[in-house]
Amino acid sequence: MIAGVDEGWNMSKKAVVIRGLSYQYQPGGPFALKNISFQAARGEIVMVTGLSGCGKSTLCFCIGGVIDYNRNGVMTGEILLNGKNAGNIRKAAMALEVGVVFQNPDTQLFSPTVEDEIAFGPENLCLPPGRIQERVEQVINLLDIGALREANPCRLSGGEKHLVALAAVLAIDPPVLVLDEVMSQLDQSGKNRVQSVLQRLCKAGKTIIAVEHDLAAVAFSHRLMVMEEGILVRCGNTETLLADRDFMRARKLIGLEHNY
Ligand SMILES: Nc1ncnc2c1ncn2[C@@H]1O[C@H](COP(=O)(O)OP(=O)(O)OP(=O)(O)O)[C@@H](O)[C@H]1O
Ligand SMILES: [Mg+2]
Repeated sequence: MIAGVDEGWNMSKKAVVIRGLSYQYQPGGPFALKNISFQAARGEIVMVTGLSGCGKSTLCFCIGGVIDYNRNGVMTGEILLNGKNAGNIRKAAMALEVGVVFQNPDTQLFSPTVEDEIAFGPENLCLPPGRIQERVEQVINLLDIGALREANPCRLSGGEKHLVALAAVLAIDPPVLVLDEVMSQLDQSGKNRVQSVLQRLCKAGKTIIAVEHDLAAVAFSHRLMVMEEGILVRCGNTETLLADRDFMRARKLIGLEHNY
């Protein structure tokens, strides 16, 4: 048994375990998340979808351990990351367990160049300079963003910012990735590129929890979570859920005109 690893955790399987997670942004306020429970295995891509305001980003904040930084909210329930209770993971060590790309990437980009932005994480891990440069080159090649290398991240387009934020997270190499609408501002070729990168990463054992509104962009995932007003209304095989047109229509996730 590894120190800090929850008893009964199946080392080979569950990278993320959420039990009875609820969240209020203010004590006594409305619940943004209501009693959410689910698990994600190593090597699994789970997409999260639902109407605006249903709690997708709040769920990302909670899994990423960033919900309580500037907030006065109330979280109940339990989150295990790689077998460790997230509440017991030191903030500084959190980036080694889970990497989060926010819906608004401006909140996480601060370096003068894209290359510096990507190097920041490995530098903070105190890797030797050669190893840092190796990681920077690896993720730049993986995401095909070499042309942006010298650019100021603040001046990039929304889609480019998401790619750079994703690159910066990948350079730290955490086992779990939480991606909040990273494909939403990309053109179709950018979406295809990110999807193929995510598929490669999950084959290498990463666990990916990704929020997307666009149902065309979720089809490649293993499982789909549908949220409504803070509740996880259904979680299952993506193909099966997308094929259940009555369910998707009832959740207002497709209209009569859609072809899914
Ligand atoms: N900082 C905050 N303070 C108070 N309430 C908030 C805050 N952030 C979000 N909320 C509320 O929590 C609920 C869930 O918001 P959240 O941003 O998680 O939704 P979402 O599903 O990500 O929406 P979208 O698809 O528009 O990104 C909403 O009712 C929202 O108004
Ligand atoms: Mg959101």
